[in-house]
Amino acid sequence: MSTKHLDKIVALCKRKGFVFPNSEIYGGLKASYDYGPLGVELKKSISEIWWNSMTRLYSNIVGLDSSIMVHPDVWEASGHIANFNDPLTDNKDSKKRYRVDDLLAQQKTKVIDSLCEILSIKNNNDNETIDNISQFLLKNSNEWKSALSEAGVIDPFSGNVGNWTEVTQFNLMFQTNAGPSEKTGKSIFLRPETAQGIYINYLLVQNSMRLKVPFGIAQIGKAFRNEIIARNFIFRTREFEQMEMQYFVKPSEDNEAMKFWKKERMDFFSTKLGIDDKNLRFHEHSEDNLAHYAKAAFDIEYNFPFGWGEIEGIHNRTDFDLKQHEKHSGKNLTYFDPIENEKYHPYIIETSTGLNRLFLMVLCEFYHEDTNNNRTVLKLPFDLAPNKLVICPLLKKDGLPEKSNEVFNKLSKEYRCIYDEQGSIGKRYYRQDEAGTPFGITVDHETLENNSVTIRERDTMQQHRVEINKISEFINDKKN
Ligand code: GAP
Repeated sequence: MSTKHLDKIVALCKRKGFVFPNSEIYGGLKASYDYGPLGVELKKSISEIWWNSMTRLYSNIVGLDSSIMVHPDVWEASGHIANFNDPLTDNKDSKKRYRVDDLLAQQKTKVIDSLCEILSIKNNNDNETIDNISQFLLKNSNEWKSALSEAGVIDPFSGNVGNWTEVTQFNLMFQTNAGPSEKTGKSIFLRPETAQGIYINYLLVQNSMRLKVPFGIAQIGKAFRNEIIARNFIFRTREFEQMEMQYFVKPSEDNEAMKFWKKERMDFFSTKLGIDDKNLRFHEHSEDNLAHYAKAAFDIEYNFPFGWGEIEGIHNRTDFDLKQHEKHSGKNLTYFDPIENEKYHPYIIETSTGLNRLFLMVLCEFYHEDTNNNRTVLKLPFDLAPNKLVICPLLKKDGLPEKSNEVFNKLSKEYRCIYDEQGSIGKRYYRQDEAGTPFGITVDHETLENNSVTIRERDTMQQHRVEINKISEFINDKKN
């Protein structure tokens, strides 16, 4: 898949009502998108599949919906105020600002080679080397003020070697004020992850549901990050949705739980969302690259048209968060283990994925150009498809629309259906192929005689004659 594919997917999203650029009539707001009629359905399907597989398949995992705005001390305790930063540099000539890792990812190999040599950093020719350089420059900015210019780092805007400033840090949290006036109001942050809402509620959840370790708390909700570089369509945006599950375990059982969740989560993508194994891989974070809270971390990556990108993080957060919240709130956050008759802070294994990234992954995975038939098909699995059936009268006369409405009313109780009577039947089918609708049902004159319809399959284009009373049976049999 090439980046051209991404352009085609972006165009399809707008054309078919999956994703629209935000505030388009005002010239747009960078990195903000709105989800159209088909987009909301696809997003709902993905989050429902995640929610059901997380909360229904495990008797010891329950749900939560915590607030986006929390007490400001939460972010002090979690370390986000001190550590949730991106390294930045400005080109004093062009006045353009860049995130250092992003800038370096756009440089030729010889520039990275030269930087590694200047800074004595081991060069593995990978993204981790780039992260290591950015972190090193952030920590030692004073000493290595001119390293970027010395190594010949090009400004993509001007095409020339930049006159780079020292690397500085930029906090990614959005800040606002709560209360009637900016002066008296308290500073509040929009949450950059949903996880902390779970940690500060974990004992309330545990007590109310009488849970025993190990247990998990799952949550889906919006998160906000003031990303400096937002690119690749909905891959990285400033407002996005996370689907996180925090699993509380005995401290000595963290490695076992980590192993378990790594396998469960990878299986989720292939078995529940139908993603091809060859497009999925693990990436383990080296010790130098671990987040401030993590003892071990694995990303699950997907092979996007622009390269491999993280879709989920699986982290061993140890007892870091609970101990931090205990310290900052002054409240005891230990769990009492009735079996062992002991108190401890559970370790937390976190699985954290982004709904919008999964949305993009699904579109990339199932976008298909059928050159033999001159059509574009979104081969979405049945459970993901925004509409499952399109009901079409062959003609707009002879009582066929009325009969089609009857069929619509019957089937829409079971499946999300749409009705379409505009244009030739071939055109109507092709329109729905692009929208990912798995089955087309045509009501014709024969229907009026014997109550049967034609069902056309999206992927094979095969057509079958089926009695109206047997449509559900047929669909349920074929959908998998
Ligand atoms: N609580 C842990 C945490 O937030 P993370 O690796 O920063 O970990 C988890 O984020 C997931 O959230 C990522 O794998 C990605 O799918 C999604 N995500 C993070 N930043 C995002 C952004 N700016 N836009 C869209 N999705 C994002």
